[in-house]
Amino acid sequence: MSNRTFTMIKPDATANGHTGAILQMINAAGFRIVAMKMTHLSADKAGAFYAVHKERPFYGELVEFMSRGPITAAILEKENAVEDFRKLIGATNPANADAGTIRKLYATSLGENAVHGSDSNENAAIEGDFFFSKLEQF
Ligand code: CMP
Repeated sequence: MSNRTFTMIKPDATANGHTGAILQMINAAGFRIVAMKMTHLSADKAGAFYAVHKERPFYGELVEFMSRGPITAAILEKENAVEDFRKLIGATNPANADAGTIRKLYATSLGENAVHGSDSNENAAIEGDFFFSKLEQF
């Protein structure tokens, strides 16, 4: 699993019609999509996914945002997937993201930053399993 990462195209990017362009960037960067679904998280599900941030001041805002509308969840495969994907998406705050990154192109703010990318191999596996059964991971 160490060459896999997990991503979500968040409600802001979905509502703004950027899903196709973001998936195209992901493919063009050499990632293979090995699981994918479009879904709408309940507040409970969004809260559970981001439980690690429960004590942070932005947790309520994050849960409200992530349950506001549909998202696309996917597992991506590539050598060095976690690190390379974080480079492709850019800094958490789009104001600090490098030119040409997904967040620079499509994110609007720190809270509404278009995409999620796992921060470690361990979390990539946990997050992928949160959305997909083993039968849905190819
Ligand atoms: P993500 O990479 O999905 O992981 C946690 C998310 O919390 C992060 O992207 C941001 O969207 C959000 N986040 C992090 N810091 C803040 C903050 N200070 N205010 C609002 N949202 C934040």
